[in-house]
Amino acid sequence: MTDAAPQTIYLKDYRPFGYYLDDVHLTFRLAASATRVVSRISVRPNVDFPGEFFLHGQDVKLIWAKIDGADVTPVVSADGLTCDAPDGPFVWEAEVEISPATNTALEGLYMSNGVYCTQCEAEGFRKITFYPDRPDVMSVFCVRIEGELPVLLSNGNPTSHGDGWAEWLDPWPKPAYLFALVAGDLVAHSDGFTTMSGKDVALNIYVRPGPDEAKCAFGMGALKRSMKWDEDVYGREYDLDIFNIVAVDDFNMGAMENKGLNIFNSSCVLASPETSTDSNFERIEAIIAHEYFHNWTGNRITCRDWFQLCLKEGLTVFRDQQYTGDQGSHAVKRIEDAITLRSRQFREDNGPLAHPVRPESFIEINNFYTITVYEKGAELIGMLKRLVGDDAYRKALDLYFTRHDGDAATIEDWLQVFEDTTGRDLTQFKRWYSQAGTPRVTVTDDFKDGVYALHFEQQTPPTPGQDSKSAQVIPIAVGLLSQDGTEVQPTTVLEMTATTQSFAFNGLAEKPVPSLLRDFSAPVILQRDQTNVERAFLMTHDTDPFNKWDAGDALAKDVLTKSITENTAPDAAYLDGITAILRNDALDPAFRALCLSLPSEDDMAKALHDAGTVPDPLAIHHAIEALKLTTAQHVQDILPRIQADMIVDGPYSPDAKNAGKRSLANSVLGLLSRLDDGAAAAKQYADADNMTMQLAGLAALLRISKGEDQSAAFRDQWRADRLVMDKWFGLTVSLAAPDLAADTALRLTQEPDFDMKNPNRFRAVFGALAGHSAGFHAPSGVSYRLLGDWLAKLDAINPQTTARMTTAFETWRRYDVGRQDQMRDVLETLAKTAGLSRDTGEMVGRMLG
Ligand code: PHE
Ligand code: ZN
Repeated sequence: MTDAAPQTIYLKDYRPFGYYLDDVHLTFRLAASATRVVSRISVRPNVDFPGEFFLHGQDVKLIWAKIDGADVTPVVSADGLTCDAPDGPFVWEAEVEISPATNTALEGLYMSNGVYCTQCEAEGFRKITFYPDRPDVMSVFCVRIEGELPVLLSNGNPTSHGDGWAEWLDPWPKPAYLFALVAGDLVAHSDGFTTMSGKDVALNIYVRPGPDEAKCAFGMGALKRSMKWDEDVYGREYDLDIFNIVAVDDFNMGAMENKGLNIFNSSCVLASPETSTDSNFERIEAIIAHEYFHNWTGNRITCRDWFQLCLKEGLTVFRDQQYTGDQGSHAVKRIEDAITLRSRQFREDNGPLAHPVRPESFIEINNFYTITVYEKGAELIGMLKRLVGDDAYRKALDLYFTRHDGDAATIEDWLQVFEDTTGRDLTQFKRWYSQAGTPRVTVTDDFKDGVYALHFEQQTPPTPGQDSKSAQVIPIAVGLLSQDGTEVQPTTVLEMTATTQSFAFNGLAEKPVPSLLRDFSAPVILQRDQTNVERAFLMTHDTDPFNKWDAGDALAKDVLTKSITENTAPDAAYLDGITAILRNDALDPAFRALCLSLPSEDDMAKALHDAGTVPDPLAIHHAIEALKLTTAQHVQDILPRIQADMIVDGPYSPDAKNAGKRSLANSVLGLLSRLDDGAAAAKQYADADNMTMQLAGLAALLRISKGEDQSAAFRDQWRADRLVMDKWFGLTVSLAAPDLAADTALRLTQEPDFDMKNPNRFRAVFGALAGHSAGFHAPSGVSYRLLGDWLAKLDAINPQTTARMTTAFETWRRYDVGRQDQMRDVLETLAKTAGLSRDTGEMVGRMLG
């Protein structure tokens, strides 16, 4: 399959399938290395779009095939089969053999710790049987599973079962990528939910017997909260008698929304206070919500083709963001999301892997499950909502659900419901879906005769395959403050549609201080000459929490930039500003903790690069460490009081309020450990009764190159818990001294519990190495080569995870010639690897391109 030159697929070539499938019957006879799958499908020609009867199939051995009961001999190729078919309706039957036990790619039917499970999105079903594996071919599935295993699960509702077999019927037509099967020795944590129309739904979270059973309660609560929220906020009710979640240890992604049978990476569903941090709890709640919300945005309404991926993912991410905001603090959630977007999506959007939210071509679709499709996709929904208003948004969504229920839809369909409900012309808005790159918005202002004017200019740099860009609609939320800090203009949304555009505010007594892009109202880079005095002013007075935080972030970046390029000491404006925030008990602790966190090393590298300086990762590392020490010294006197105030009494609860307190307490601990030689951190580690406090104690120690004993003790304590051990592996690499990062990663690969076949473990070590900016960019190039070697090894086992992890190299052009040469060498060596997967080949090719 890797022999043929990889083919590029284009959106413009879309054509419906030549047949309809009226129903699909599948029988699985499970056996680890020789599972048999029998399919029986009622097929009807699509008279409007006649075409050949081609079924996808990959790594499946055809045993026999029949049409209307008579043997046929299809032409089988590396990617499927073609068969002569009757002009009218017919029944297709086939039996194939597959080998789940040797499936290390974790796509199709595979085994994880003795449990059979499937992963079919995007194109994994073709590894299970011959089938038109495309999202616009939808059918009702009836599944029979045969195997001597206690639990046999598939989509939909259970219809009957006996000793060693079970049958399931999913009445909702679905594409093959939503198919799932799970079989194994599993136990259920069960509960129930009564829907808004009074229907009872059985809920189960399945895990392997043992310690995982005690880690299901939180996820179950999150599931019930999500079900209720989707009814309350979107009017969406669940549509089967049963909803099952299964936790598996080996999984390429976070989780998968298979109809009625969600399959989760165990790290994204299992939680307990002793083993999971507050951020784990928050993430788990968001992912459970996300997968549940897909039942409507993704399953009941699916995508016509994979170019439309953002139709389900952008919208579902937006929905899970709204949900998380509703559970805790919208301000904190917005800041967290903006941090992710600006560090990871902007990085992608401004490098060789930049692509539109709706791409127009791909070689391997797995490579397009990106931060751009997901997170920028969600930003587009947020902008749309801001432009049309909350009520119109709800009306448009209602129309979307009624008009497209049961459809495989497109972005055009999505925008049409907004046009039809609001009368707006969204032609220009649609450019957000087709143009890659992050728009730069340059701002100047002036004040004359009581009129304050803001002048904006937008420009989007070229991206691969897109040299010039047209103006986009940019909602810019703006507020104005008077010089004494009172708000004279509450938030209003300016709608920028032209390349250059001005907006005026009348009747002002003095020149105001503008607060621009409030709530991060558009995924753009705002460029404006701003003094640190003005940033500090906004940090103190802005009423918009996002901009209040952002002013501090900009100030910190300026301080770090000057310390790196001019060796200057931190501006008093920063230190005083941060002190004021820290002291201000009226502010949410979680918000204060965010204000205390400095930009990441990678963010600083990007900031320097954007400002025309070649970043030196080690200098950045030292500058950040130095600023932390200076800050710690500056706020020293108030730290004990804040620590005391942030003590959480009573049993652990992951709710936003308590988590916020712990977050601030742990930020303070990070500062304190630089002054007390780790005494407070060691005490916290010793006293901790939950993972949040234990891990933060350990991290604070490792960060100051202490904590060897605690690290060893931690390891002994948690040796039997895979998810906690992933944290240990990750932290050990992340917090190694820069010159030891590569050695540390290498040493960890020699540990007996390092298992490269487990994506979580591989990512724990090598994701941490790639994320350790100063260590990854060690001048000798040792980390680049180490990662390159391991990616080449992993590619032979698991192309999908390998391809994702090559993004460690996407910023190679940012650095000095020496580092560029070494990174390019690694990419070129990878490209030449014999038998390289299509997945990794495409990624490496684009990065070198
Ligand atoms: N559709 C999944 C989600 O976003 C992600 C996923 C994609 C999982 C591909 C596995 C494989 O929820
Ligand atoms: Zn999703």
